[in-house]
Amino acid sequence: SSKKILVLAGDGIGPEVMREVAKIVNWFRAYRGLDVDIAEELVGGASLEVHGVPIRDEVIQRAHEVDAILFGAVGDPKWAHVDFNLRPEAAILALRKELDLFANLRPAQVFDALADASTLKAEYVSKLDLLIVRETVGGIYFGTPRGIETLPDGSRRGINTELYTTSEIERVARVAFDAARKRQGHVCSVEKSNVMESGLLWREVVTSLQQAEYPDVTLTHMLADNCAMQLVRNPKQFDVIVTGNLFGDLLSDLASMLTGSLGMLPSATLGPLKQDGRRAALYEPIHGSAPDIAGQGIANPIAQILSFAMMLRYSFERDEDARLIETAIENILNTGLRTADIMTLGTARVGTEVMVAAILQE
Ligand code: NAI
Ligand code: MG
Repeated sequence: SSKKILVLAGDGIGPEVMREVAKIVNWFRAYRGLDVDIAEELVGGASLEVHGVPIRDEVIQRAHEVDAILFGAVGDPKWAHVDFNLRPEAAILALRKELDLFANLRPAQVFDALADASTLKAEYVSKLDLLIVRETVGGIYFGTPRGIETLPDGSRRGINTELYTTSEIERVARVAFDAARKRQGHVCSVEKSNVMESGLLWREVVTSLQQAEYPDVTLTHMLADNCAMQLVRNPKQFDVIVTGNLFGDLLSDLASMLTGSLGMLPSATLGPLKQDGRRAALYEPIHGSAPDIAGQGIANPIAQILSFAMMLRYSFERDEDARLIETAIENILNTGLRTADIMTLGTARVGTEVMVAAILQE
């Protein structure tokens, strides 16, 4: 039976790259027997414009029902002054929260042709392929008590609390171990167990889970500050990194720059396994709506295309199809074709459409 995909293109370059990715999806329908039903909805500034809210309840409901969500980007400077809950960005936060999308998977892969585009020397990043699994609905971002309070002496203090339960740690660690089994079989768990109780529990729970259920995966532990240093010193030592919300935010942004361009990097955010064996999943590039280049036809579509490849791999178990996309992109980059954001010399600069046409042809 056909799979259901909800497409939420959003704002800025979101719709520009999504329009092109639709061509890739159609190619898989035509030539690889991909059987999908696609529904599109407005989110972000585009939804505000028409419906007065960044995301409608019906769209959240739709999101619950489909097999996978392909998300573009939200954010429009036009709405920067409105109330926090009414900004375009509230759409993606609402989706994560409502669907309990707790595990954010961010691969940082370096294509051979782009090793010289990294902020590190090519030798440190060539063949780099690491995956950061970040917990996204718990930890210090959401723990209570929180807030800003005034003390008796009139001074004020800001409060956030880091909380992690064993089940929150276990479910994200499981995602990391499962991913490692399909990769090099190594997980590095990152926290600050030297100074934080939540980190101590994190380390205990991850260790017990590995011993009980994943003896075939090797597990190491690293303190978060050391991990930041190691990612820059020798990123190729890592396979899968699993970490909490705050450390994952910092480390995944850091890792993204090792690969050369924000316009290349996809992500998947997974929810809990449901009774029918499926899980909610949202796939999106890590870049935003790029208002500075929107409407010019020059956005790099590769992050969005690779997000679709991740959907094929994680939600539809079509690993071979995902590889077809990745290989086509690799081959095209090897020919020297580049969008303007990729900082390498001596290459042909093309816009969004030409890049996608070349990938499709390949
Ligand atoms: P951004 O990622 O949109 O852009 C940062 C820089 O990278 C810009 O110079 C942009 O032109 C460039 N860039 C990004 N993606 C590119 C691509 N595919 N091809 C070529 N160049 C690309 O981040 P920024 O500027 O901080 O945020 C812009 C808006 O996007 C804001 O409203 C922000 O809140 C929103 N945003 C939304 C996200 C989401 O929907 N998940 C994630 C990050 C930001
Ligand atoms: Mg961030």
